Amino acid sequence: MERIRCEALKSKIMSADEAAALVKPGSVIGVSGFTAVGYPKAVPMAIAKRAENGEDMHVTIIAGGNVGDQLDGSLARSGAMARRYGFQGNKDLRKLVNAGKVQYCDVHVSHSPYLVRNGYFGKIDLAILEVAAIREDGSLISSMAAGMIDVLTEYAEKIIIEVNDTIPLSVEGFHDLFLLKRAPNTQIIPITSAGDRIGTPYAACDPSKVIAVVKTSLQDLNANLKEPDEDMKKIASYIIQFFKDEMKAGRLPDPLPPLQSGVGGVANAVLEGIANSDLENLSVYTEVMQDAVLSLIDSGKVKSASGTALTISPDRREELYANLDKYRGKILIRSQEVTNAPEVIRRLSCIAMNTAIEVDLAGNVNSSHVNGTDIMNGIGGSCDYTRNSGISIFTTLSTAKNGTISCIVPHVGHVDQTEHDTEIIVTEQGLADLRGLSAYERADLLIEKCAHPKFKDELKAYVEKAKASGAGMHAIKVL
Ligand code: COA
Repeated sequence: MERIRCEALKSKIMSADEAAALVKPGSVIGVSGFTAVGYPKAVPMAIAKRAENGEDMHVTIIAGGNVGDQLDGSLARSGAMARRYGFQGNKDLRKLVNAGKVQYCDVHVSHSPYLVRNGYFGKIDLAILEVAAIREDGSLISSMAAGMIDVLTEYAEKIIIEVNDTIPLSVEGFHDLFLLKRAPNTQIIPITSAGDRIGTPYAACDPSKVIAVVKTSLQDLNANLKEPDEDMKKIASYIIQFFKDEMKAGRLPDPLPPLQSGVGGVANAVLEGIANSDLENLSVYTEVMQDAVLSLIDSGKVKSASGTALTISPDRREELYANLDKYRGKILIRSQEVTNAPEVIRRLSCIAMNTAIEVDLAGNVNSSHVNGTDIMNGIGGSCDYTRNSGISIFTTLSTAKNGTISCIVPHVGHVDQTEHDTEIIVTEQGLADLRGLSAYERADLLIEKCAHPKFKDELKAYVEKAKASGAGMHAIKVL
């Protein structure tokens, strides 16, 4: 079936180089995509080529979430990118940010669309969007990631569309887009269960704003997830036992509220563990649906899963794309503003499960920085879910860098989620339920249950030193 069905846009079909030539230096550009799927590729690479040929492009990129190397890597390495907003995960961009060469501002996933719509990023000169197809009326069939596509089509001045023929056309119908209005007229988001449809499968797009349409066949460059190892399996088993104990105690209902799961290998392993457990009648309301969500649906444990991106490891992608219809009616792809809306997360009493880089003795979590000052990826939607869920869980291995660094530390080098938001901390050593505990009680429990044995004495010594230092007893600090 034809992918560019809008007559008015057929005359706008051109090469990536021709489209990139229309981009003015200094432009503020919003892009589609999330967790390295559904992001534009050909035009960003062509913009990078202009910078490599000596032009000073200094563009600002606003992305809803992580995008692949053809976008972030190309623009960063070529020097075309001056500023970047939103979660990133590219090693070259990260280096340039940490060297002060690219200005980076990390934004909550739920906030980016709000900031675009209400003008806080200034005028959005251009949106560059990757889609599966353009319909007769100009509306767009999004990729496997909805991200900010609906907000960008509405608020960008001009639009360049990449139509990528590697995205299966059968993705049509998987999206549910519900565009919010400008403050203070923002609507209620009427979702009361993960599978509720409240919007339309298409992103409205005014063809008169479209300045170029580029046909591409470039693949998403997301990475394969690590296979769950023994430590990850232990973390999953503690969480599953915790759920069962909480249900028995009547603090968690049976069936459980919708599960949210963060990004990365540990997060995926926890869901894989749940897929292999005897928990039943589950649902998923999350930001990113990784491989394990397919396992949960395949095992019959999950009837509906909702997220802003379906990010499947390249090794499993071909099979998924060939059998996408199997998941029709079970998977919904929503805009990120809806998946991460505090209102909905709280109404559904989601169970948030995110990954920390380090956790301190008071329960503060750092999920975005290493060495205190260097960005790793960003906060993504972890704060959206941690603060607003019914219960919030953080997982991490107890040590990093081949056991040389403790991930349980006296004070985190950077605070993303505060001690007031975090509740359950889990490492391969055990699970600490911090709810209702004072600072020193939290410290004792974290050391006992979560710290690696080889770091326990050092951590206990810090606690004793803090107590003896004469500091106030409501915070753990050596004066
Ligand atoms: N000190 C220094 N480095 C550390 C560390 C610590 N305490 N803990 C982890 N790291 C390093 C690892 O060594 C690894 O480095 P490498 O890439 O050089 O090998 C890197 O951080 C990633 O760790 P890994 O164990 O591979 O974790 P992961 O794939 O499970 O990802 C996060 C963990 C925290 C980086 C990832 O979940 C993330 O970016 N989270 C923030 C956003 C988020 O939570 N989004 C979900 C919201 S819905």
